[in-house]
Amino acid sequence: MDEKKRYAEQWEESSQLFYSNNDYFWMCNQIKQYHIVLEIGCGTGQSTLALVEQGHKVISVEKNQYCLEKAQSLIRSKGYTYEMLEGSKNDCNVIFILADICDENFSSNLSTIAFDIVVCWNVGTYWSQDMFDYYREKLLKYGLTWQQIKENPESSYGEFIQWKSCEIAKEFNLPVHFIDRGSMLIIEEDDPYFISLKDEFKYSKIKYDNKKSSSMSLGGVPLTVEQQVCFEKSIDIVLASILLTI
Ligand SMILES: C[S@@+](CC[C@H](N)C(=O)[O-])C[C@H]1O[C@@H](n2cnc3c(N)ncnc32)[C@H](O)[C@@H]1O
Repeated sequence: MDEKKRYAEQWEESSQLFYSNNDYFWMCNQIKQYHIVLEIGCGTGQSTLALVEQGHKVISVEKNQYCLEKAQSLIRSKGYTYEMLEGSKNDCNVIFILADICDENFSSNLSTIAFDIVVCWNVGTYWSQDMFDYYREKLLKYGLTWQQIKENPESSYGEFIQWKSCEIAKEFNLPVHFIDRGSMLIIEEDDPYFISLKDEFKYSKIKYDNKKSSSMSLGGVPLTVEQQVCFEKSIDIVLASILLTI
């Protein structure tokens, strides 16, 4: 099966577990004061659905067309409305954009729409040699070393996408919100990484919250723990919320 298609099938399983654990409800609560949300990487749409259910209007960007199709069909099946950016009349619940945020002129897609916050939740992607070849130059230009990229391509990519999310948010002078999945709480006293983003992009405040949850591995997108693929059905994780504000 096509790697992209397999990823969409697996992420749908993983994401349904987050949805039924009320994890997305908790994520939405972290940003409830912001009405229109630019969602970077909507996956199969469970996060988008939760945002719409909580009263947000959502602009969702996704580069994997199989994920996007699933997200559209989920939104439709729950009785909500969506448009693609090109034909959007602005009175729908979701505007979808099929695009890669790493593309040179990505921001031009956003010139005609307004939004109040950028979110990047649970960054991830399918991974393949083609992907590796395509993003390698961008990751090197961002400042990672060849060694770092080779040893841990997925987390190198994740770090780059979080940085890009800040860049996009700052271009519009808006807050940015991350959800990071890991095994440890993220707290201000022990967080060099998000603090470095706050400083680099000159945000004035950083706010943290954490939630214990579980994530599907076998049957969903396989999780890697200490460089080993995990074959458990699900494993305990911590969801960390990091909000950077102007
Ligand atoms: C792990 S899923 C998370 C989906 C959703 N945010 C959630 O929490 O359920 C990450 C999604 O981001 C998409 N993605 C990754 N890199 C992207 C990029 N450069 N541009 C657009 N979408 C991207 C992937 O295709 C994938 O569907």
